[in-house]
Amino acid sequence: MKIRRCAVFYVESREDLTIDWAKLFAGQNTLAAQLSWVALVPHLDREVGLNTEQLLVLGTISQTLWTDREEAEQRHGGAVVGALLELGLLIGDDDASTPMRERDEKLRSQQWRPLSALIHTFSRWRDVRTETGMQTPSFQELVDRHGPPPPPTIHPAAVGASVALPPAGKGLLDDALLNRYTGRNFDTSASLSQAVLARLLQRTFGAQSVRNVGPDGDVLKKTSPSAGGLHPTEAYVLVQRVDGIAPGLYHYHQVEHVLRPLRMLEKDEAAALALQLVADQHWFAEAPIQVILVARVLRNFWKYRNHPKAYKAITLDAGHLSQTFYLLATEAGLPAFVTAAVNDVDIEQTLGLDHLSESVMAVIGCGPASGRQDTIELRPGDTA
Ligand SMILES: Cc1cc2nc3c(=O)[nH]c(=O)nc-3n(C[C@H](O)[C@H](O)[C@H](O)COP(=O)(O)O)c2cc1C
Repeated sequence: MKIRRCAVFYVESREDLTIDWAKLFAGQNTLAAQLSWVALVPHLDREVGLNTEQLLVLGTISQTLWTDREEAEQRHGGAVVGALLELGLLIGDDDASTPMRERDEKLRSQQWRPLSALIHTFSRWRDVRTETGMQTPSFQELVDRHGPPPPPTIHPAAVGASVALPPAGKGLLDDALLNRYTGRNFDTSASLSQAVLARLLQRTFGAQSVRNVGPDGDVLKKTSPSAGGLHPTEAYVLVQRVDGIAPGLYHYHQVEHVLRPLRMLEKDEAAALALQLVADQHWFAEAPIQVILVARVLRNFWKYRNHPKAYKAITLDAGHLSQTFYLLATEAGLPAFVTAAVNDVDIEQTLGLDHLSESVMAVIGCGPASGRQDTIELRPGDTA
């Protein structure tokens, strides 16, 4: 049997502070530090505690070349090699190791930069349910808690007098730009028309044209820019209230301009799912639609392979799409929202996605405003 090390893991030194009761009674310093090694392992999607022996052995086994298990056991001892195989940090070529090997190979095949795989895997939320009814803390509450924030503007050291600029002239985009705000008070009895939904989706996510740049080289031209022109971001739509479209989860096809139904839902199921997706932020869950932005990472990493900037680029891509969506919603007279405070793992499970190949980036949405201010908003024109 051959073995090699898994492709990606990072080790943290953890410290747990506990009270040392014996010292406390002897009148000495009572804090004791418990130190340990913890491996963060993206292909396992979990943390694994390691002892020093395991850590040292992992440092001697190649992640690329396969070596004989027997040879490794002679060098390090059978127990430690067996334990690392069991943990999934060493990968075997035998049948028993197939599930673990497939996860490791999946990660390798996606061309992740190791640090990006790590930040992606371990920044996902699972079943985070903020207290329902929670209000966004007021600015003053935050100042009371943390002291004043860094100032909103800066004055870097200048090498000469400032250049005064003329006022911003009027422009075609002004209406949308100046009326845009994040809506947190949606009218729960209002629905969207299909025409509005169609324009929002087509002009945000739809291909405005398809350009062929060579064999296997279909490139989508969209209203937002995308790193490498690759547009890895998919749009999954949770419909709660759209005229003539049944509540459910749909995938938007960016060229065919159709909603492909993935799962039909009763109204209350759709509402409960909406709440779960955005970690109980009811002010967003009440919108008639949510759009889940999911990057197919290999669409980008195919070009930017094992690249230190690639994950940042797909995050920026999602931000551009979100702003385009905000402006289109504003044009339609609808406040919009974006949130990264989403239950990524629950979304993956709901949509049948694999975190090694798909990255949930954000949830956006929009809908008619209720006219109330139950939850704080920064509406244009409001002074307080
Ligand atoms: C990446 C990102 C994440 C956000 N996440 C949340 C969120 O979780 N909850 C929320 O209420 N607002 C969220 N917002 C909205 C911001 O709070 C909002 O943009 C900000 O308060 C400024 O208000 P405005 O959009 O009306 O100008 C987010 C915005 C961005 C760009």
